[in-house]
Amino acid sequence: MSPGAVLVTGGTGYIGSFTALALLEAGYEVVIVDNLYNSSQEVLNRIELICGKKPDFYNVDVTNEATLDKVFAARPDIDSVIHFAALKAVGESTEIPLEYYRTNVYGTICLLRSMTRHNVTKIVFSSSATVYGDATRFPDMIPIPEHCPIGPTNPYGRSKATVETVITDHIEAQRNKAKSEGKSGEEWNAAILRYFNPAGSHPSGIMGEDPQGVPYNLLPLLGHVAVGKREKLLVFGDDYASSDGTAIRDYIHVMDLASGHLIALDHLRSKHPGVRAWNLGTGKGSTVFHMIKAFSNAVGRKLPYEVVGRRAGDVLDLTANPTRANQELGWKAEKTLEDACEDLWRWVKNNPQGYRQNPPDFLLEA
Ligand code: NAD
Ligand code: WQD
Repeated sequence: MSPGAVLVTGGTGYIGSFTALALLEAGYEVVIVDNLYNSSQEVLNRIELICGKKPDFYNVDVTNEATLDKVFAARPDIDSVIHFAALKAVGESTEIPLEYYRTNVYGTICLLRSMTRHNVTKIVFSSSATVYGDATRFPDMIPIPEHCPIGPTNPYGRSKATVETVITDHIEAQRNKAKSEGKSGEEWNAAILRYFNPAGSHPSGIMGEDPQGVPYNLLPLLGHVAVGKREKLLVFGDDYASSDGTAIRDYIHVMDLASGHLIALDHLRSKHPGVRAWNLGTGKGSTVFHMIKAFSNAVGRKLPYEVVGRRAGDVLDLTANPTRANQELGWKAEKTLEDACEDLWRWVKNNPQGYRQNPPDFLLEA
């Protein structure tokens, strides 16, 4: 039996586009809804260039429930949702928290209501390691397992933690409702995927991260330094209790993240776990200095940096314990940090304008 169609919200964004590609490659039909707030429709052509298939695209805001209803009505073959659409800038979330709660929390409520009306019962949700907050307050919980108490420290993180609760309560209510009607209710399932630090691009060099504004994450910023759009990288603090004084993160290749979504969706279909959270990380922490070195190696020259003070809200160490995903889903990150750096460099150097330019011919011929 061929799998049903998957609705991918935020599917023209960074992680969503790689997941859409992986779904198409696995034989799923893909329907994307995105309002293009932080992405470009051009990515749909790149997906087609790579796999020969194009997702069905609807320019829809997830906070518009009536429009979501129209998409479900137009595509009755949708049987599951992967929900990426969100605002994601931590700093900005402290300035305009209401926008963050509106898009991330209210948008999810609209989606769940619309899904329920159309009897779509499975959802995979993009959560974040940011829900753990400063996990170093539990020293025996580094690397971080899913049972580490959560404690987000900013509105973005709190919006993600709230959505985890909203989804959990909704799935439980739907299961109870079904049981009260004499049915099993086991078709109602949700995967909460807590990603650590996504990194890298497609090895072809024609798909990558292309945010609409100025990047603020470490690797895209290093990319800007490498192509001369930025003079140097500012290293936020070298007085952390790590091997070289800089903070530790778990950088995971975006293609590994994408495969995690497919495996989680399969798990929901076959094992009916109810609601379950899984960390998606490699289990290996890297310092900022290590990342500068790894990306410099990919570029082939040393990249300039300057150490400045710590960034407000940063924590020493966010490294995943991915054992639960390894054991329960049979998922494991396969790609290395070197892969992520090399793929990112291929993307950045060949597409300095991201999706606002055509990919070079030699990439298309490769
Ligand atoms: P992204 O900004 O590239 O993708 C998000 C997409 O959602 C964009 O295409 C944007 O246009 C769309 N969107 C925003 N508001 C919308 C709305 N109201 N209606 C419809 N579409 C809307 O971000 P990403 O890095 O691909 O992140 C995807 C998901 O993963 C987000 O939920 C994010 O919070 C989560 N996440 C990201 C990271 C990270 O560091 N990139 C880490 C952990 C979790
Ligand atoms: C990584 C490391 C910085 C920029 C963020 C969100 C998190 C998740 C992933 C969505 C840190 C250091 C960075 C720079 C630097 N997103 N750094 N100079 O902060 O770990 O996580 O993205 O869910 O919620 O908070 O990622 O890439 O910004 O930083 O020294 O110019 O690089 O201090 O140690 P972060 P990042």
